[in-house]
Amino acid sequence: MGSDLRVYPDLEALSRAAAESLVELAAAAAAQTGCFSIALAGGQTPRRLYQLLATDYRGRTPWPGVEVFWGDERYVPHDDPRSDYQMARETLLAAVPLPRENIHPMPTDAADPEEAAQAYESVLRAHFPSRPWPRFDLVLLGLGAEGHTASLFPGSPALVEERRWVVAAEVPVAPPRRLTLTLPAINHARHIYFLAAGAGKREALAQALAETPDVARCPAAGVRPVEGEVVWWVDEAARGGPGATSEGTM
Ligand code: 6PG
Repeated sequence: MGSDLRVYPDLEALSRAAAESLVELAAAAAAQTGCFSIALAGGQTPRRLYQLLATDYRGRTPWPGVEVFWGDERYVPHDDPRSDYQMARETLLAAVPLPRENIHPMPTDAADPEEAAQAYESVLRAHFPSRPWPRFDLVLLGLGAEGHTASLFPGSPALVEERRWVVAAEVPVAPPRRLTLTLPAINHARHIYFLAAGAGKREALAQALAETPDVARCPAAGVRPVEGEVVWWVDEAARGGPGATSEGTM
């Protein structure tokens, strides 16, 4: 399967290119259906993209029609600095005219993460009624150095989930308790954008793009849209292209 791999000199350039494409998707979706549903990624790589959406691209995004979800979340309070919601709030959500009711954070206040996962699945099912899987207009994903994406880590039982949209997961990095979309829930999106930068992601990127995916070893390789497209927005350091340095560009 050919991958749409787009390589840029650095994080700034890939973030700008992804922002340009994202606002075009949002405008087209909003014009067609009045809504643009996006699942945000956590971690550090998307920060610059979010900042650009809140500044240079703010005026080109149809915010009232944007519905914001998350692809995964650390199971910590929303005001915890490790929270993916907190990162999106400080880099994007606090700076754009999004109706409060359009922001759907993953809940992290239930005693049992499993209960929270089921609650979030109900939120998604309410937004994507009478569908076997959610149909996000766009899912944003990052890439871990060892091949994880969202909170789907190598060897996780969540990787073989074929029915549920959202599950609780224990992961080998802090904070260990997570909520995450499952692979089928991701793979039914119309568009999936991976963002990856830095030499540290080089091996994982190669594994994720391999012709024969080893999903147990590299969960990102399991992101294969059913009826949609996946675009990889990467820098030269992650791709190992010309001018790549051993230090990477992070
Ligand atoms: C998270 C993310 C996770 C992230 C990767 C890459 O909650 O941490 O969802 O999947 O995208 O770990 O993280 P960086 O962008 O910080 O390298």
